[in-house]
Amino acid sequence: MSDLNRFVEGELVLLVDRKDRRYLFNLADGESFHSHGGIVYHAALIGQEKGVRIRTNTGQVYYATVPTLADYVTNLPRASQVVYPKDIGGILMVGDIFPGADVIEAGMGSGALTMALLRAIGPEGHLSSYEIRDEAISQARENISVMAGAPENFRIRSNDIYDGIVEDTVDRIILDLPEPWRVIENAAQKLVPGGIIVCFLPTIIQVHNLAFTLQTHSSFEMVESIEILLRPWYIAANSARPMHRMVGHTGFLVSARKCAGSIE
Ligand SMILES: C[S@@+](CC[C@H](N)C(=O)[O-])C[C@H]1O[C@@H](n2cnc3c(N)ncnc32)[C@H](O)[C@@H]1O
Repeated sequence: MSDLNRFVEGELVLLVDRKDRRYLFNLADGESFHSHGGIVYHAALIGQEKGVRIRTNTGQVYYATVPTLADYVTNLPRASQVVYPKDIGGILMVGDIFPGADVIEAGMGSGALTMALLRAIGPEGHLSSYEIRDEAISQARENISVMAGAPENFRIRSNDIYDGIVEDTVDRIILDLPEPWRVIENAAQKLVPGGIIVCFLPTIIQVHNLAFTLQTHSSFEMVESIEILLRPWYIAANSARPMHRMVGHTGFLVSARKCAGSIE
């Protein structure tokens, strides 16, 4: 079996206990993970197959695996509210983020969405992420480096996007900031014909304002507003029902496509 299938020093690991409590940390020889279920020595995991089940010093069983991007985003050190994985998935699909795409994003916040965009555009694409807060930029840089290193096709711009988009043309524009309607006029100039803009918004008042701005702008068609609801279910031998608790609300997605030329 290839060494890629075994845990190495410095790698991120996700430990899951029998009650589905999750813990994320980097493996470091000489360190140990402590919880109510006992101790797991990192050295006992280094060199083991990924996906191994391991016992703590008190005999509790933990599953040790590689965190997915969704696991990582959910546990991210935050400088802002991050976009939830369900909405990230929606943004990638609604925005049709493709390998090789030229994309801009604002604001970058903690970089959760940024990592998914980088993965979707691949090494041939380009991503510029706008962010006005220095604290968010440092946090995002740190978060992104864990999952994606320092990709050459990624640029952070410490610009206020309301002052203008620096790039000449872009395939996609993704916005997660309070007043996206202030970007629409500039987006109309910078998006390629058929290009897509997707905005994530927490309140319906913002949705109305943005959707109306897009609907009444001569450069956009196919304005759509959606909300993605995710309801987890509990499944056991004698029971199958929705979970008692769910995340009730995260936000809405508003998207539109750029028109070519004008119509009389
Ligand atoms: C909700 S957070 C973004 C979270 C991010 N999408 C993530 O998944 O981690 C919104 C961010 O937009 C930034 N922001 C607000 N107005 C901005 C502007 N005009 N230009 C650039 N960034 C802006 C804020 O500083 C904040 O960090």
